Amino acid sequence: MWIFIIFYNNIFLYCSNSLTKDKNMDSLQIGTSDLKSSRLVHGCMRIVGDNSDESRRKGKAAVRTAYESGFTHFDHADIYGGGKCEELFAEVLREIPGMREKIIITSKCGIIGRGNPVPDYPARYDFSEGYILKSVDGILKRLNTGYIDILLLHRPDFLFRAEEVAGAFEQLKNSGKVRHFGVSNFHPSQLSLLQSYCPMPLIINQVEINIHNINALLDGTLDQCQEQNISPQAWCPLGGVVYPAWGNIFSPDDEQRIKAEFDRQAAKFNTENWIVMLAWLLKHPARIFPIVGTTNSSRISASLQALEIDYRREDWYRLLEARNGQPVP
Ligand SMILES: NC(=O)c1ccc[n+]([C@@H]2O[C@H](COP(=O)([O-])OP(=O)(O)OC[C@H]3O[C@@H](n4cnc5c(N)ncnc54)[C@H](OP(=O)(O)O)[C@@H]3O)[C@@H](O)[C@H]2O)c1
Repeated sequence: MWIFIIFYNNIFLYCSNSLTKDKNMDSLQIGTSDLKSSRLVHGCMRIVGDNSDESRRKGKAAVRTAYESGFTHFDHADIYGGGKCEELFAEVLREIPGMREKIIITSKCGIIGRGNPVPDYPARYDFSEGYILKSVDGILKRLNTGYIDILLLHRPDFLFRAEEVAGAFEQLKNSGKVRHFGVSNFHPSQLSLLQSYCPMPLIINQVEINIHNINALLDGTLDQCQEQNISPQAWCPLGGVVYPAWGNIFSPDDEQRIKAEFDRQAAKFNTENWIVMLAWLLKHPARIFPIVGTTNSSRISASLQALEIDYRREDWYRLLEARNGQPVP
């Protein structure tokens, strides 16, 4: 009897460690780290909009609603709004006492836009030590915080030297400016290369996953995440559902067929098509964290419906079939 109770308790402890309720949102451990993130992450790429007073007010309201709805993880990059998204977020942090300590802030660096700092310079990536260190100082200043929880390298720099990046990461960790590290848009081989030089685990690979772009399911990205306990995050999760995804190759017929299946499932679950898309991502065993990018407060609250849907294998494959225009072989 005692053996059974101890065994049962351990199962309970295991479950409550890996998946717990935080406010009204499930939360999950990120990779092998001690960080627990809400299952949905709030994406801050659009929070300044056109930078008008009205857009900025809406963006701040979006962040507040996300926080009040139980989002504990906010995704930034140094380039979002040319740095203005991080600055606006800092205003919300100032206005809500104690918020900083209760949330996870991720930001990214490594992309330099065309014409910077000289007009004829091309768009490029830069993972040199000096550029990474300088970028993090800029991020901390704009966010008005002493540390960020996670730094991601935004897009793989073709010229990156893994040893140099590892050295920059070590300096940032030792100085307390960054607690954890990860990557974005990395192929599995690029992630493995960088990991082989880094003493700390890379805990996230943030990639595009939506009904249009399912590369991560096919190219080993999600397999690597499961094998090495790396958390995948899905950016632009609603591409192909509420707006055309990057490099859209769906024909009007494809779009009609896919929409018909979304409509059918949304009616079945008494919800909306974009919520079904989030449920499709959440169903994957790699434990994908969808990054919800809406600046509309009612959509932010509504996104939590995706966590309540009893989404079945059959639903998942029906949507895949509609996407592919044919059944799996
Ligand atoms: N690592 C990378 O390379 C990378 C690249 C892109 C993005 N990201 C991250 O991923 C996050 C999410 O990306 P995303 O903003 O593209 O996410 P998303 O959630 O796929 O899209 C948000 C956009 O869809 C619109 N939308 C949402 N629901 C809608 C609906 N029901 N009807 C009509 N429009 C709707 C939103 O408009 P409203 O605001 O009006 O609702 C907003 O313009 C970003 O914030 C950023 O943090 C990372």
